[in-house]
Amino acid sequence: MSDVVQIQKQGNIAIVTMNLPPMNVLSAANRAGLYDAFTALEKDSSVTGIIVTGAGRCFSAGADITEFKGKGDAAFSEGRDLSEVCDVLDASSKPVVAAIHGFAFGGGFEVALSCHYRVAAPGAQVGLPEVNLGLLPGAGGTQRTPRLIGVEQATKIISSGAPVDTKSALSLGLIDQIVEGDLIEGAKSFIAGLAKGAKLRRIRDITIDPATYPADFFAKTRAAGNKKRALAFATQRIIDCVEAAATKPFDEGMKAEWSNFLACMASTESGALQHAFFAQREANKIPDVPAGTKERPVKKTGVVGGGTMGRGIAISLAMAGYPVILMEVDATRAEAAVAAIRAEFEKLGSSGKMKPDQAASSAALVTGTTSITDLGDCDLVIEAVFENLEIKKVMAAQLGAACKPGAVIASNTSTLDVDLLAQASGRPADFLGMHFFSPAHVMKLLEVVRGKDTAPDTLMTAMAVGRKLQKHTVVSGVCFGFIGNRMIEPYVRESEALLLEGATPGQIDRALEAFGMAMGPCRMMDLAGVDVGAKTVIERDKDGMLPNDPTYRIICRELEKLGRHGQKTGKGYYRYEGRNAIEDPEAQAVFDDLARRAGIAKRNSIEDSEIVERCILPLINEGFLILEEGIAYRSSDLDTVFLSGYGFPAERGGPMYYAQTVGHKWVRDRLLHYAETRGNAQGYWTPAKSLEALAASSPKK
Ligand code: NAI
Repeated sequence: MSDVVQIQKQGNIAIVTMNLPPMNVLSAANRAGLYDAFTALEKDSSVTGIIVTGAGRCFSAGADITEFKGKGDAAFSEGRDLSEVCDVLDASSKPVVAAIHGFAFGGGFEVALSCHYRVAAPGAQVGLPEVNLGLLPGAGGTQRTPRLIGVEQATKIISSGAPVDTKSALSLGLIDQIVEGDLIEGAKSFIAGLAKGAKLRRIRDITIDPATYPADFFAKTRAAGNKKRALAFATQRIIDCVEAAATKPFDEGMKAEWSNFLACMASTESGALQHAFFAQREANKIPDVPAGTKERPVKKTGVVGGGTMGRGIAISLAMAGYPVILMEVDATRAEAAVAAIRAEFEKLGSSGKMKPDQAASSAALVTGTTSITDLGDCDLVIEAVFENLEIKKVMAAQLGAACKPGAVIASNTSTLDVDLLAQASGRPADFLGMHFFSPAHVMKLLEVVRGKDTAPDTLMTAMAVGRKLQKHTVVSGVCFGFIGNRMIEPYVRESEALLLEGATPGQIDRALEAFGMAMGPCRMMDLAGVDVGAKTVIERDKDGMLPNDPTYRIICRELEKLGRHGQKTGKGYYRYEGRNAIEDPEAQAVFDDLARRAGIAKRNSIEDSEIVERCILPLINEGFLILEEGIAYRSSDLDTVFLSGYGFPAERGGPMYYAQTVGHKWVRDRLLHYAETRGNAQGYWTPAKSLEALAASSPKK
């Protein structure tokens, strides 16, 4: 018998414990252990009741998704499949009670559903989150849940994938009792309370009365679908499964569930979501840090600059429980920043995004100062002052002198050379970039910028803080724009070129939003601030870093001059009524005039497919260059950056994964097509060498 599952007898009751810390995932060994335990207990006449539970901090987190990564359905033939295990629990002639603590998710909850009854500790959560990976519960979850709690609630729970707290689970009927004291004792009492000889409640035997849900329920739910495109396919399949549960015998429903599960597993969406899941985990691994490198302890943090970013960063730090001391140039600004942070926490508390008491205690962690000596005992200080090299160098030097030995000093710069700032600090080993995205307490992405002298433990510290802030943290080397802004640059460049050729901001945005981008490039630039974008271009121009292209991003530079700074000034690429972007003939006149002066002829029509390809493909190509230069460790890191920080469509898995799914050869060929049709004087369309190599071996298209 597998040692992952243990049986302990207490009187006539057998306690079956899954013991595969930390998550008790339903690996092949765990499945085999449960199967064997129940087979043995069925024959053991001394046992009159069985409790199933998990060791450590939870019941079970469900399937081990690393087990089926890239294996398709082959993985499921390994040993016992979970449905078989559930069948054995379900068929037990002795009452079986799941004792749930921590959480029972996915396959873990399917195990609990195949027990005859469920009791849970207060604070436990249950749920079927498979949809978040573009999948559905494949071991009876879609068949048992509707039988237990009705079609409507089951559809909601399975297609949302959201966890259900114990109280809601009890009122829905997902669990039978909340146990306040010792969970196992509670489960034993539950069994003792069952009427002797009473029929066991096997969920599979319940039939669903059509009168319990509206006749048009399935049609309406299908039509509503799922607004998240990445989850739409799985959602339709979930509805099919629940309908099968409502209208077919259990065993037929199980067959429907399995074929739908396999269809989900084979879907592009699920492939992309699984890729994103693994990519995020992988991003935490830093290959060239000596084994055993420990992060430095971080107890107290500092933020310099209380503007847009400094405030967001301080909120994010305080949300994670770090005391934050925020420094500004004068008392008025310091007070204004702290007041704004408090107000934001109040809003988070009153809107239900945070528990009010947590919001209040987080708010209390932030204090203001105007004196750099107050940062002297911080373990980590993040600088977010104006984006100006001289100002930042002075600040880096001051922080280098003021911070205690061993403190980590980070800059939130988005465009400046982190190595120059590190030198200026006088202690480059302690220095790195921590590039947050706006609003910093909302956006998931954090780029940690590793300077050439950043010490391994400095890097590990920033990564650990990133995790504590619940960010998707990715390491970038030093280069202009780091990973994200460097890759987005050719995307924005092409959107401007298309405007000069006669596409409108609305057409460009619609085309890219139809591709799945959360926001098209013109609206994105208006939101981020045209002046901010233009300033970067102007600075790069001064430094001689721009291509020798007289039309290079001339639109944003002109709009900036005209005071059309985007949403904040009511005018940019569009004009704004509130937040509504409206095509503006005045802006159009600017584009037309610039095009005329540059000698660019207006084209009669530009296909949406050209817009998408011209914006997305050079972005991908830049990704290959970044990898060639060693700026990023791995291609999947670039996907994490774009999925978490730039609204790249989740169903496409990030730009580099997308390139793989459409075929590297196709990507290369389309770049060459644009080189030919648009001209390639600047090398904009020259495929990266590594892309060429992949294209040469690409079987696709
Ligand atoms: P901001 O202009 O809103 O805030 C800068 C703040 O720094 C001001 O409140 C100013 O009073 C303060 N400050 C200036 N010198 C100071 C000093 N010596 N000591 C203390 N405080 C000082 O600027 P924002 O947008 O917050 O940007 C800050 C940094 O974050 C810049 O490096 C920027 O490139 C970067 N960043 C900005 C993003 C954005 O979307 N706004 C996104 C990612 C990074």
